[in-house]
Amino acid sequence: MKKMLTGLQPTGVITLGNYIGSIKQMVENQNKYDSYLFVADMHAITIAQDKDELRSNIRSLIALYLACGIDPQKNKIYIQSENEYHTNISWILECNTYFGELSRMTQFKDKSLKNVNFSSGLLTYPVLMAADIIAYDAHYVPVGIDQKQHVELARDIAERFNKKYGETFVVPAPLISDNGTKIMDLVDPTKKMSKSSENKKGTILLLDDLNITRKKIMGATTDSGAEIKFDEENKPGISNLINIYVSLTDKSIKEVEIMFKNKKYSEFKTAVADVVVETITKIQSSYNKLLNSKEIDSILDDGREYTKKIAKAKFELMKEKVGLGRGE
Ligand code: TYM
Repeated sequence: MKKMLTGLQPTGVITLGNYIGSIKQMVENQNKYDSYLFVADMHAITIAQDKDELRSNIRSLIALYLACGIDPQKNKIYIQSENEYHTNISWILECNTYFGELSRMTQFKDKSLKNVNFSSGLLTYPVLMAADIIAYDAHYVPVGIDQKQHVELARDIAERFNKKYGETFVVPAPLISDNGTKIMDLVDPTKKMSKSSENKKGTILLLDDLNITRKKIMGATTDSGAEIKFDEENKPGISNLINIYVSLTDKSIKEVEIMFKNKKYSEFKTAVADVVVETITKIQSSYNKLLNSKEIDSILDDGREYTKKIAKAKFELMKEKVGLGRGE
């Protein structure tokens, strides 16, 4: 069975964009692939975090995974920092990755521009991400468009290592859905929906109050004209709402355009708000039951033990290939 793997950062409550771009794809494919889903807490500290908030966000994210429909029987669920082999593997990979490649990553360029004193972890972050992926020989990595470049780098790193030291890793590929790979900000639909947006009205968080969620959608920026038509260039606001609707109902764009032909923007927004609120309501009610359950700890213990064995074996293999330590 082929493997599928992804991770999310525990920096605040995740957004509807995170859900549609990655978790929903994991849920939809969990019967098809051997699945791995983790909390990327080591990635979170590339930017300063409050210690207590980070801890509580980690647990909250695990509860959200389960509440979104991630089945612990079908997924290995774990916390990145509980498995030290990720960083061990990452170091060897770093020594096989060029500075130029890392400094050309779009996210690094954006984030480093915003902050003069950025950490070197912000530069090397995609190598740790490559380690997370190739340690398990993952074939598919469900991500949104914003992480595609990083998965492609993981591909390059795996290929380069295989060529230099002999077959060691499966070469991964991003798994990108047709719609919803980039859910945009509701206020400024030319920007990605993001936890860190300054205007909170543009972002839907999975744990947002339901009335506020509805208001955010009803207040979403729309475009001139009156037609409900998918046209990302000229109608970015409506196209984003169509993308959200399509992703949560599994209808096609064409079907949605026909359903809402000659309908007002406000009628369409109400329909989008209904499906978003319905989705979030379900997630929140199971989240509240799960958050303090003992089940989470036993899932994480199992996940840690299982994944540690795999990552350790890969690290030992890499050491052998590279000539580290004393050998067998
Ligand atoms: P992160 O935490 O920034 O985002 C988690 C996932 O959500 C997707 N995403 C979106 N998709 C659609 N529309 C949006 N507006 C949107 N915003 C975010 C992201 O593409 C991502 O899939 N480096 C990663 C975490 C990571 C990882 C990995 C992922 C660490 N190691 C190994 C895959 C494999 C990150 O910061 O994602």
